[in-house]
Amino acid sequence: MRIAVVGSGYVGLVTGTCFADLGHDVVLVDNDEPKLVALARGEVPIHERFLPELLARHRGKRIQFSGDLQAAVRQSQAVFIAVGTPPTEHGDADLSYVESVAREISGALNEYKVVVEKSTVPVYTSQWIRTIILRNGAEPGAFDVASNPEFLREGTAVTDFLYPDRILAGVESERCAEVLREIYAPLTSGAYYSRGDAIPRPDGAQVPPRLILTSTKSAELIKHASNAFLAMKISFINAVASICESVGANVQQVCEGIGTDSRIGPRFLNPGIGYGGSCFPKDLLAFRAVARECGYEFRLLDEVMRINEEQRHRFLRKVRGVLWTLRGKQLAVLGLAFKGGTDDIRESPALLLVQELLREGCRISAYDPAAMERAQQVLGSNIEFTQDSYDAATGADALLILTEWEEFASLDLTRLRKLLKYPIVIDGRNLYDPAVMAAHGFTYYSVGRPAALTEDLPAGIRSNKTERS
Ligand SMILES: NC(=O)c1ccc[n+]([C@@H]2O[C@H](COP(=O)([O-])OP(=O)(O)OC[C@H]3O[C@@H](n4cnc5c(N)ncnc54)[C@H](O)[C@@H]3O)[C@@H](O)[C@H]2O)c1
Repeated sequence: MRIAVVGSGYVGLVTGTCFADLGHDVVLVDNDEPKLVALARGEVPIHERFLPELLARHRGKRIQFSGDLQAAVRQSQAVFIAVGTPPTEHGDADLSYVESVAREISGALNEYKVVVEKSTVPVYTSQWIRTIILRNGAEPGAFDVASNPEFLREGTAVTDFLYPDRILAGVESERCAEVLREIYAPLTSGAYYSRGDAIPRPDGAQVPPRLILTSTKSAELIKHASNAFLAMKISFINAVASICESVGANVQQVCEGIGTDSRIGPRFLNPGIGYGGSCFPKDLLAFRAVARECGYEFRLLDEVMRINEEQRHRFLRKVRGVLWTLRGKQLAVLGLAFKGGTDDIRESPALLLVQELLREGCRISAYDPAAMERAQQVLGSNIEFTQDSYDAATGADALLILTEWEEFASLDLTRLRKLLKYPIVIDGRNLYDPAVMAAHGFTYYSVGRPAALTEDLPAGIRSNKTERS
């Protein structure tokens, strides 16, 4: 099928590239000229596993890049809208980018097309897209609008797209449903998975995925409700971790006990410094705004957001509690991205913590395998960026682990201990076993687990309690 994807950011680029790998002819559209030039030159603007290989495989063959939205629409049977939907100052989603794309699509409907919203949008958006396209002169029979929310996670975006738990299509007509069925047929039929050159199947992925057909309104709500539920799971376990710290229990054991209940499941029960990224924070705000608009005060979401923010403050109090005064302290920071496997720093709790530590007068040497370039644009020369974790640790008063990159979980602990000025590790991602850290001579703090102590500290700190301020 000939497909246009409007918006070549994180979601658009991955979506378009994966569609090409499924055998479709794709035009990736963007209005960011330098981005288009870089993409055409062969650059890959985001750090995402398998994306460089797939782009190299299809660039100039099944993938074209274009700044001409209308030409791309004219030559396509389906048009995916994957532009940003950032929050306004009131918390609701700013849909002006979506509206402007819908307006332009209207003038290019030369034959029946399906316009698909891929961006995360509030309920009723597909109806608004339809209204805007009609208002700008299109015939009602010339198009349908579908909702096909994207569930990929940054860091594993390509495999998430090609091995999804399910594919969701909100449609209002059988004709439109048929187009979406055809686009995803290589996945739903299993044909893609038997190809020799398919991207390898990740552990635990069930194939083929089901295509779930719903109304457009249900599909829009499913995406917001899914993200809200996942954020709630994270905040829930972070709240439980805080109680564990108070009573001296171990949240890891609690997670195992809860997560083995098949009704709950183990995933997303990872205590830490809170969620971030470009999706959860903004989607929760948007979902709360949608609910409010419908006359429902979704207070549960307020609490999820409050716990998430509090989690960062708790971590800061822990750092203060362990190091006493912060002014002038040299801290090694591992991780700046909002999660492992990506260079995305949008709403990164790691970055927010670094900014707070700088405000408190700390000196910081930081390392992240992918996000340092982006972090430098925000932090400038206020911190030192290093070549690796060991460089960051050299001479530091303590080491802070803020992002769950795999390589941070397998450091040479003997070497690390020698490099640090004091053998203190404060782990916001629970990457290490406290007993192993103690055996290597570290004073080790994590989230929701008893501290491993190799020195005498004041009582409140010893028990890993972070008192409320
Ligand atoms: N990033 C994720 O992990 C993720 C996952 C699922 C869903 N989503 C949703 O997908 C949507 C896109 O997110 P993203 O992270 O890819 O955003 P992004 O900011 O990385 O990309 C958006 C792209 O759209 C382009 N754009 C904006 N207006 C345009 C226009 N009029 N014409 C052509 N291009 C235009 C921008 O230049 C940019 O390249 C959002 O609604 C987001 O919530 C994101």
